[in-house]
Amino acid sequence: MEIVIVDSELEGGEKAFDILKNEIKKGAETLGLATGSTPETFYQEIVNSDLDFSEMYSINLDEYVGLGKENNQSYHYFMKEKLFEKKPFKKSFLPNGKAENLKEECQKYDKIITEHPIDLQILGIGENAHIGFNEPGTSFDSQTHLVNLTESTINANKRNFDSVEDVPTQAISMGIASIMKAEKIILIAYGEKKAEAIKNTIEGPVTEEVPASILQKHDNLVIILDEAAAKYLKE
Ligand code: GLP
Repeated sequence: MEIVIVDSELEGGEKAFDILKNEIKKGAETLGLATGSTPETFYQEIVNSDLDFSEMYSINLDEYVGLGKENNQSYHYFMKEKLFEKKPFKKSFLPNGKAENLKEECQKYDKIITEHPIDLQILGIGENAHIGFNEPGTSFDSQTHLVNLTESTINANKRNFDSVEDVPTQAISMGIASIMKAEKIILIAYGEKKAEAIKNTIEGPVTEEVPASILQKHDNLVIILDEAAAKYLKE
């Protein structure tokens, strides 16, 4: 694992973008993308670049159950606003949170991931070390599945909603096994709120109680942190 400490979110976005450019040069054609505030500077770099993504695919990690594309709190909406309407891909996949049959939707999503192996996966991290919406206790063997969000995640994400009652309680998330299959992974974390999750992820035991700790076993992982997120690390 390579750990890169940056001075700002701007620099973190630039660093992640440099890695992306390099992977594209090497032939990457499918990107695994994440939502949340963390990857925003990375998306900004993409938008401001002259790179063309019209022959590439993107596969997002997750979506809230019950929110449609037109809902401005949905991850579909977020991705469209931050990236896709400015940099269209050949095809961009996100789980359909309004699917009538959610189990079938999960299976369909797994098929998409199998058909488009992810070359570069971008990850943020939750304060409880979740990745995607894989909450503590999720099996490391998991594929796309329906998730009951933990109270910690609902509370952390309520800042984006009018009130806590509006935060969906379920989501569809790509599983941990699928994330681990990505050829290369970039995990990004900024701010003190993530410091403990980062310490447990990098220096703690590999345990399903700390979903991101499985990343210790990935052999092509870059972790981009600011000083605050890195503050409990030994070195
Ligand atoms: C949500 C997403 C995660 C993301 C996390 C952190 O729970 N499902 O993919 O990593 O939020 O968000 P932020 O980057 O805003 O801290």
